Order: sequence, then structure tokens, then C-alpha cells
Amino acid sequence: MILTTLALTALLPANGRTQAGKYKTLGYRSCGTGQNACHVSDGDWWRSDPHFKTISDLKRKQQRSMQIAQTYGMKAGDYLLGGSRCGDCHGEVVSGRESRAMNTGVSCESCHGPSGPNGAGYFEVHQEGARSKDPLDVSRSGYQKALKVGLVELRKVAIRAGTCVRCHQISEKKLLEAGHPTGEGFDYLGGIKKDISKHWDYAIRPTDIDQAPFAAAVQRKPIPAFTLKITNSPAVSGMRPAVVVRDTVVIYKNRNLPAWLNPNNSTTLESFDPRLSHDAPVDSILQEIKRYIEYVHQCINDNR
Ligand code: HEC
Ligand code: HEC
Ligand code: HEC
Repeated sequence: MILTTLALTALLPANGRTQAGKYKTLGYRSCGTGQNACHVSDGDWWRSDPHFKTISDLKRKQQRSMQIAQTYGMKAGDYLLGGSRCGDCHGEVVSGRESRAMNTGVSCESCHGPSGPNGAGYFEVHQEGARSKDPLDVSRSGYQKALKVGLVELRKVAIRAGTCVRCHQISEKKLLEAGHPTGEGFDYLGGIKKDISKHWDYAIRPTDIDQAPFAAAVQRKPIPAFTLKITNSPAVSGMRPAVVVRDTVVIYKNRNLPAWLNPNNSTTLESFDPRLSHDAPVDSILQEIKRYIEYVHQCINDNR
């Protein structure tokens, strides 16, 4: 049996990580989300949104994560650190704690922008002024001042689309060559409709479900051509490779089994080589496995 695994094909420039900006993340607790009178319902929504679970998802996919991290050139276990490249997209960490594990999944400040530091970010100013009865009214002084000190203007659909694309379109060659999915199948409009708009105070408008701003943002962050090289030596020792390809499967006659269960001759089957890309959805993987099992049954029947 030959084990195949992904290996890094080329030395690549440093990752596309942005410099830590002048604004600091204070963490979801600072937004209220249950502790005080602020953003209670937003917090309730968030706990049911896919972004709340991005850390537990990553932990569930530990083996895959460690393999990507190590092939990427990091210490495998560091993938959970807030200051790691993985932390840029998979979760949130309170500023100053980058050397520790991410605190939460993708959170309020991941999309709306870091709200600190105290006195200099938007945290204080964004609370200023009474809210209008009309949720679409953006004239409140606190909102306008906040936009000048780091609040992301997500009301503008182009900025909103760019925010989703920042994480959901993976354009870093080195990361892709480490076996990370591209994010190409990302359903932007579905995400807005089914998930994100649940915490808005206004009903979705036609402009909110316009694909054009997303298409434009994707254009600005193209996925580079990249190669995945298959080698026979596992890149990460002691860890199972991402794809296991059995060279040949041979079914031998088993004398302990009744005749009707035995093939007449030993049968050499075609190897199980589904040729799926690394971001193939589980459904297609299961389809391939099903197809192969059917093929095995076919061969057994033919040889009876
Ligand atoms: C630019 C943002 C970004 C960065 C950086 C990033 N990821 Fe991801 N990652 C995503 C997104 C978005 C998805 C979901 C993509 C999809 O399903 O197509 C994802 C999916 C994954 C998955 C699930 C893959 C699967 O087959 O189910 C793993 C594991 C993963 N990332 C690990 C990592 C690790 C480890 C790092 C750091 C070395 C990292 N990611 C860095 C955005 C990112
Ligand atoms: C800070 C990074 C980040 C930002 C910004 C972000 N997401 Fe995500 N999102 C993720 C990660 C990471 C996952 C989990 C991917 C996984 O493990 O499969 C995710 C999951 C999702 C999912 C669940 C299904 C899927 O495709 O994996 C939807 C839907 C989604 N995001 C929509 C959006 C939309 C819409 C926006 C913009 C308003 C957005 N996201 C902004 C990082 C981000
Ligand atoms: C995945 C990205 C994402 C996450 C995570 C997120 N938001 Fe939002 N949020 C948006 C978008 C996009 C809008 C629409 C912006 C607009 O219309 O001004 C929005 C709108 C809002 C609004 C304005 C609602 C309205 O109707 O005017 C508030 C308040 C808000 N978010 C608070 C929060 C809080 C608090 C959290 C964390 C518990 C959070 N958001 C998490 C993307 C996000």
C-alpha cells in the first residue's frame, strides 16, 4: 500500500498577513452580548451563527489543521494561536493575547472592526447620540464619529462584500499549496440571507442581495494558480496523510466462507483513486466511496 501526501512544492514569499493596525480588539464581551444592556439580541444571534463555532470546527478538524499548519511552515500545534496566520480568519483574540489560543470564533469585531484601544477606538464614541426609530437612518452622531476611528462601514455593500472576501476567498499561494481550500464555493448571498441578516434591525433590501459587489471584491483578490505535488513520503511524520490511495485491492478466496460468498478467482481491482480536490465537499467524497463499493460488488459478482 502506498501512502500519498501533500508536500510543499516551492519556497514562497512571506504570507500576506497585514500589519497589526492601530486599532485594538477588545473582545466580544466589551460589546455587551448578554452582560449588560448593549447588543443582547446580537449576542443571541451570534451564538447561533456559523461564525460562533469557527474555533470548535477547527479543533474538530485537528488533524487536517495540523497538517496544513505544518506544511505551511508553522509548528503544527500553533494553528490555534490568535497571532497565527490561521488566527487571521478562523477566530478572534483580544489584542495583547496573540501568543495565546484564540478566544472565540469569528466575532463582532472581526467584521465590524476592532473597537479599541480605550479612548482612541470607536468603543466610546459609537455609543453617543440617541438612535432614530428608522434603523436605516445613519445620521446618529455616534455612528458617524465611529466610522472615522475604525468602525467598518458595513452598510456599504462594497465594503461588506470585501469584508467577507477577506476571509472567504483564500488567495495566498503558500496556504493553498499547504492543502488549504480556496473557498471558491462560498455562498455569499446565501450567507447574508440565512445567517448575517438575522441580526439586522431592517429587512433585506434588493441592494443587500446584489451579487455584483461580491463579484467585484473577488476580482480584486484572485486565487493564484497553484500546484499540489503528490509524493510518497508523508510530510508530517506520525500523522495520516490527507489522501490515502490504495495501490491495488486484491480479494482472495476465503476457504472459511461459504462458496456463495467467495469469488471464483482472486480479483485485482482498480485502485481507489477518486481524484478529488482537497476542498471537495463531504457529499462528493461519499459519492466516490459509494461508487467504488458498487464497483467492488460488481467485480465479486462477475467472478463468482
Ligand atoms: C484568509 C483566511 C484564512 C486563513 C488565513 C486560514 N483559513 Fe482555514 N479556512 C478559511 C475558510 C473561509 C474556510 C472554509 C473554506 C471552504 O470550506 O471552502 C477554511 C477552512 C479550513 C479548514 C477546513 C478544511 C476542510 O477540508 O474541511 C481547515 C482545517 C483550515 N481552514 C485550517 C486552517 C489553518 C491550519 C490555517 C493556518 C495555517 C488556516 N486555515 C488559515 C479561511 C482561512
Ligand atoms: C474574520 C474572517 C471572516 C469574516 C470577516 C467572515 N467570515 Fe464567514 N466564516 C469564516 C470562517 C473561518 C468560517 C468557518 C469555515 C469552516 O470551517 O468551514 C466561516 C463560515 C461562514 C459560513 C458558514 C458556511 C461556510 O461557507 O463555511 C457562512 C454562510 C459565512 N461564513 C458567511 C459570511 C459572510 C456573508 C460574511 C461577510 C458579511 C463573512 N462570512 C465574513 C470567517 C469569516
Ligand atoms: C460575519 C460578519 C459579522 C459578524 C460576526 C457580526 N456582524 Fe454585525 N453586521 C454585519 C453586517 C454585514 C451588518 C449590516 C451593516 C449595516 O447595515 O450597517 C451588521 C449589522 C450590525 C448592526 C446594525 C444593525 C442595524 O440594523 O442597523 C449591529 C448593531 C451589529 N451588526 C452588531 C453586531 C454585534 C454586537 C456582533 C457580535 C455579537 C456582530 N454584529 C457580529 C456583519 C457582522
